[in-house]
Amino acid sequence: MKSTGGSDEAKRNAGESAAAAVEDGMVVGLGTGSTTAHAIRAIGRAVDAGLDVQGVPTSFQSRQLAREEGIPLTDLDSVSTIDLAIDGADQFAGAHLIKGGGAAHAREKVVDNAASRFLVVADPSKAGERLSHPVPVEVLPAARTTVADDVHMLGGNPTLREAAHKDGPVVTDNGNLVLDCAFGEIRSPQELADDLASIPGVVEHGLFVGMADEIHVGTDDGVEIHE
Ligand code: A5P
Repeated sequence: MKSTGGSDEAKRNAGESAAAAVEDGMVVGLGTGSTTAHAIRAIGRAVDAGLDVQGVPTSFQSRQLAREEGIPLTDLDSVSTIDLAIDGADQFAGAHLIKGGGAAHAREKVVDNAASRFLVVADPSKAGERLSHPVPVEVLPAARTTVADDVHMLGGNPTLREAAHKDGPVVTDNGNLVLDCAFGEIRSPQELADDLASIPGVVEHGLFVGMADEIHVGTDDGVEIHE
């Protein structure tokens, strides 16, 4: 798993706070990353104690962890609704997020968007006045050069994400590549989201505009919930 800022205790407090919102009978979207992993483990403990839930994973990582934790799994084709999704973020500003540090943002966006309630779990290092973190953009491999050209035209600086323990690029769970696109401070997230989405060859970008219903920000001592 990639390493991000924030202490493990802060991530645990955020994850366990969001997991406490899971109720009997719910279908729950299971996000990806080190903070959500704490929520998945907490849900696993609740399942051990008798909670009846079904999880919809957003990545290979979250599926694997949920299986290890004994959480019954389903998929989007098999349920009529997702009651609650819990997922991390690389940066948040108000209800806007940048996600995709783990290259899972395409499936995350589908699941988080389908949920009736979307809870974000984060530590204080993820907070920003305005979004400014590079935006991960998942691209079809054959389109990486043309998409990079279009990102330059939008004023961005794209970098192909390289794998840490493999020669060559990161390949997503969907078989695509990731361009991390630095735009500096993002003054209009919706406008940039629309521009990125309109580039041929872009599978999904990591701007989640106005999507968070609650942000559970863990600290070493507790948690603050932003609604
Ligand atoms: C996965 O692609 C991401 O969207 C993660 O949810 C995000 O990077 C947060 O991960 P951490 O909780 O590990 O910081």
